[in-house]
Amino acid sequence: MPFTLNSTVDYHKSKLETLGWELTVSNALYPQDSPCRSILNDPSSYGRHLYEFLISVVPPLAKVDRIMEIGGGYGYLMRDFLECNPGLKPFMMDISPFLLQKQEETLKDFEVIFREGNFLECDDALLEGIELVVMNEILGDFPTAVDVPADILSPDFLPDSPEEPLHRIRRLYDLYALGRPQTRTFNFNLGAVEAVEKLCKAGVPAIFLGEHSCEASLPEHFARYIHLETADSPQRIALKGHDEYTIKMSHLQQVAEALQYRVLRGPFADFLDIRYSDSLLSILTSTDDADDRQEILVHFLGDLFQYEYLILVR
Ligand SMILES: C[S@@+](CC[C@H](N)C(=O)[O-])C[C@H]1O[C@@H](n2cnc3c(N)ncnc32)[C@H](O)[C@@H]1O
Repeated sequence: MPFTLNSTVDYHKSKLETLGWELTVSNALYPQDSPCRSILNDPSSYGRHLYEFLISVVPPLAKVDRIMEIGGGYGYLMRDFLECNPGLKPFMMDISPFLLQKQEETLKDFEVIFREGNFLECDDALLEGIELVVMNEILGDFPTAVDVPADILSPDFLPDSPEEPLHRIRRLYDLYALGRPQTRTFNFNLGAVEAVEKLCKAGVPAIFLGEHSCEASLPEHFARYIHLETADSPQRIALKGHDEYTIKMSHLQQVAEALQYRVLRGPFADFLDIRYSDSLLSILTSTDDADDRQEILVHFLGDLFQYEYLILVR
């Protein structure tokens, strides 16, 4: 297979009309009567859980007001953040005019700046003064290089011009010592790695990243009930009208650490605290005659480990 660069730009700019079928963890938890809330110790929304978690692990974040969310979807996470801390002054950037309009509706009662744009192409000056950047389930939308020949990492590879993807991949591998893949071809989260490099080089003090990881693992007590997909290289997720790729979180971690950031990493289950109960056990064990609700819950439980976060602090 020849090398390709997966892009979701056209889809997001001109085709996207709903996130409905692309059920993010945040959206799954948003309705007050969401069944997913029933397996959490605190049955509240995603943004509230995340806000409380962020200020507990990085207490100075409680004093932050200039926050930027990139790829905010329907705006639910930011509405939760604003309800937790009305002093926040959010800046929302999104490539999708459709979703940006949804964000404006969701956040109409608050003072928020909105900007349509592709984060990977935006001027770094926009990041000046921003104290916290949140990117939740967007990294998988950024360009992923697919079927990259491993030869490009060998010493005799002659790079093409600096703007070309293979050159950019080679630069990142060399600069951040990313470690040679063991296969003849590999997939690489070029956009996600460049996004982290951009944020860290701009010196943003704190960054939250959350996404579908290809390196996730399950605690032993769940491993016999739930199956997680893991791989050494990012994997394709086929969605309506576009493909996304899972994220190799260790690459993002290496880049941030090389740029002098401290990194906290874990599964979403660290802040979406699971309520262990008899009913949870029966949901996990009776999969053969599972109804729709049980299937949703088993899937959601898997997502709490399949999705990982990185908190980067300078
Ligand atoms: C899968 S949705 C996640 C939405 C929300 N954060 C959530 O967790 O429910 C991805 C979001 O990122 C936006 N997005 C994708 N690529 C982008 C880019 N290059 N620059 C800015 N926003 C982008 C999409 O329009 C969308 O709002």
